[in-house]
Amino acid sequence: MSAKKRILLCVTGGIAVFKAAALTSKLSQSGYEVKVVMTESAAEFVTPLTFQALSRNPVYINTFNEKDPSKIAHIDIADWADVVVIAPATANVLGKVANGIADDMVTTTLLATTAPIMIAPAMNVHMYAHPAVQKNMETLKTFGYTFIEPGEGFLACGYEGKGRMEEPEVIQKEVDAFFARKDYPEWHGRKVLITAGPTQETIDPVRFLSNRSSGKMGYAVAEEAAKRGAQVTLVSGPVSLPVPPGVTFVPVTSAEEMFQEVTARFADTELVVKSAAVADYRPQEVFDEKVKKSSEPMSIEMERTKDVLKELGKRKENQVLIGFAAESENVEAYAEKKLHSKNLDLVVANSIVDPGSGFQGDTNVVTFIKKGHSPEKLPMLSKSDVAKRLLSEAAILLEQRGIQ
Ligand code: CTP
Repeated sequence: MSAKKRILLCVTGGIAVFKAAALTSKLSQSGYEVKVVMTESAAEFVTPLTFQALSRNPVYINTFNEKDPSKIAHIDIADWADVVVIAPATANVLGKVANGIADDMVTTTLLATTAPIMIAPAMNVHMYAHPAVQKNMETLKTFGYTFIEPGEGFLACGYEGKGRMEEPEVIQKEVDAFFARKDYPEWHGRKVLITAGPTQETIDPVRFLSNRSSGKMGYAVAEEAAKRGAQVTLVSGPVSLPVPPGVTFVPVTSAEEMFQEVTARFADTELVVKSAAVADYRPQEVFDEKVKKSSEPMSIEMERTKDVLKELGKRKENQVLIGFAAESENVEAYAEKKLHSKNLDLVVANSIVDPGSGFQGDTNVVTFIKKGHSPEKLPMLSKSDVAKRLLSEAAILLEQRGIQ
């Protein structure tokens, strides 16, 4: 990160303060500049020194403890923040802010800031369900504040239910997404369709033909596009990856199912990224019963599946189409051929034999091939960085097409 993004973390008093310490650590390690404001009661749970050490910044608790005479601390830090996160947010702080009460460092800062405010509540299940708390949260939503809903589970008070502050990793993802939306306004609301993973082509009730695709590349593109504010639909073959937050998920198994799900959505899509490794052939006959072995060799007659991307290339109107080409030789020449034969705007080519490249790993070595441009080979990058570069290319292609 070049200029550090500034997060003001307001910590209020509940047992989840210990999670706020972990959140401070994660945000700082990810390159954010974090400053912490605490209530007196939050400091009863975890000392300010902990937050100071994790954020490497002074911690603010007392409105009247003005360390720098040239500044008014609560105004200064309120103006300093790019975003404010209240975590954990108690019922008390929600009530105060909803009603404009400012009687300590946290609440005066919250009234003074013009930065967006994200709130991660944490409280007992009955407190959370109380009409006063619910009403206060509704009021705060009308102010434009956003909520990171608490999870369900065991609460420190001994109850089980909703009220547990969301995990630091999830809060950080929300913060990342906030900045990505701010940094990439051109992606806001873009309709993006991404395919990922392998397909499975059934032989009999227990067997299928498939390939080694892990889905990691497509999931990385889906995650990044969603972070940037696009409306992402992910049509995925069977993989063992979590669905990225904010993505509409369409699970499929076979090439035929992928064809149906993708073509049905194509007319209402602006960008397609087709990273799935779709089977080119499937067994001509699917056995209803499990095939028994015999002493004879066996063969399976195969037939071609439909080429999803080629079909999209034929139907293409104003959409941007990006395909993948995994090759073991003549990478650029074969990829260039796909660019033309499938009527694509960009082919992401990779050699499956290059070190650091291919299906299963977390890195990739890819070459971008565009009509009328010489191939651009990228260095070895994480799949998430390849996704970022790919979306930058896609944004240029969308702009060139005048899709606004
Ligand atoms: N693709 C598709 N439908 C298929 C097969 C492939 O949409 N039935 C898409 C993939 O998602 C990928 C690109 O086409 O974006 C890969 O091109 P393809 O020609 O299928 O690659 P290979 O199977 O590796 O091609 P070839 O055997 O011709 O080298």
